[in-house]
Parts: sequence; C-alpha cells; structure tokens
Amino acid sequence: MKFFIDTANLEQIKEAQALGILDGVTTNPSLMAKEGITGKANIIQHYLDICNIVDGPVSAEVIATDYDGMIREGEELAKLHKNIVVKIPMIKEGIKAISYFTSKGIKTNCTLVFSVGQALLAAKAGATYVSPFLGRLDDVSTDGLRLIEDIRLIYDNYMYETQILAASIRHTMHIIKCAEIGSDVMTGPLSSINGLFKHPLTDSGLEQFLADYNKGN
Ligand code: E4P
Repeated sequence: MKFFIDTANLEQIKEAQALGILDGVTTNPSLMAKEGITGKANIIQHYLDICNIVDGPVSAEVIATDYDGMIREGEELAKLHKNIVVKIPMIKEGIKAISYFTSKGIKTNCTLVFSVGQALLAAKAGATYVSPFLGRLDDVSTDGLRLIEDIRLIYDNYMYETQILAASIRHTMHIIKCAEIGSDVMTGPLSSINGLFKHPLTDSGLEQFLADYNKGN
C-alpha cells in the first residue's frame, strides 16, 4: 500500500519524507488555508515547494466547479510539475473533466467520494485515483471502511485501473484496516503514520537491551 501524507505543512511533509516511506502528498483548499496559504500565486508556489520535497504524486485541487473552469485550472496545475495530480470533485461536471483529462493523459484524483456509485463513475471516467473519505463517513455513523471494501470488490470485478486512495484517515487503525482490505493508497496525517511505530514491548525491549549492554561496558 502506498503512503501519502495528507497535509500542506512543509515541516510535516519533510519529516515523513525523511522516514523514506513516503510515496506522495494530498492537499485540499482547507489544508492550504490551515497553513495560512492563500491567494493563487502563493498556492501555486506551495505546490512547487511540496514537489521539491517529495518525488511522488502531489494532488492539487481545482476550485472551479464548472467544466470549462476545471479544464482551465487543471491544465494550469498539470503544467506546474510532472508529479501534479489534478484533484477534481465528484460532481457531474467533474466527471466530464476527468474524462477529458484521461483522454489527454493528465492524472486525476476524484475527491469527495462517499458512495460506491460515485466510485464506479470515477473509474468509468478513467480517474487515476478515487478518494473515498472514510473518516467523514465514520463521523456520521456510516462505516467508512465498508465503503473501501465495496469499492475494492467492484474494481476487482472489472479490473478497473483506478487506484483506491483511502482519504480522510483519522488514526493508525484506519491505515491498518485499509491495508487489510487492499486499498492501493492511504493518505493520512503525520500522527496516523507515527502511530504505526508505537508498541510498549518495543520500548521496554530496547530499554532492556541497552541496560544489559551497559552492564558489560
Ligand atoms: C484528501 O485528499 C482529503 O481531502 C482529506 O483526506 C480529507 O480529510 P478530512 O476529512 O480529515 O478533512
């Protein structure tokens, strides 16, 4: 399973990159705003800064919601760097835009996906990635992981090449469960990745090894 980090915070991206296990980055307008990145010029520069840290797919979201606007913005974003993936919302105009970008060989990430029907449309349009938001489904008492399972089944039935990018990951167990299901990618905050390191037996075992080594030295 590929690991993407879900943030626009450059320090956190650098920290995850330094681990040597990072495959890509996802951002969205809210994550940009959280870092105080506003205005088109600053946002574009920020995408370039991220691309200079991580050599992997970097999702950059369009703001337009009409077809022509999404095409214009998506083409601009795709020209910025070879690793940019144009992130497009799951709406009718978005599916039309994804179909267009697919025909042009431009990579896309279909975002704000909350149902198998939507994921099916994204695959039919040839999206590179589909982003089901599992945490936000959990937030409204709906099983987000179940959605990942259902999409996996349907994509496997028809051998769709669209990669399932489990998004809105909130914690470490989400990552583990997505790996069990066979999600192609997960995107999560740094805290969820760091949670994978933790085990008290590792800590106590290391402490014991060092204590025993020091007895003889
Ligand atoms: C990433 O592509 C999504 O925009 C992101 O995972 C949404 O996460 P949230 O539900 O925690 O805002």
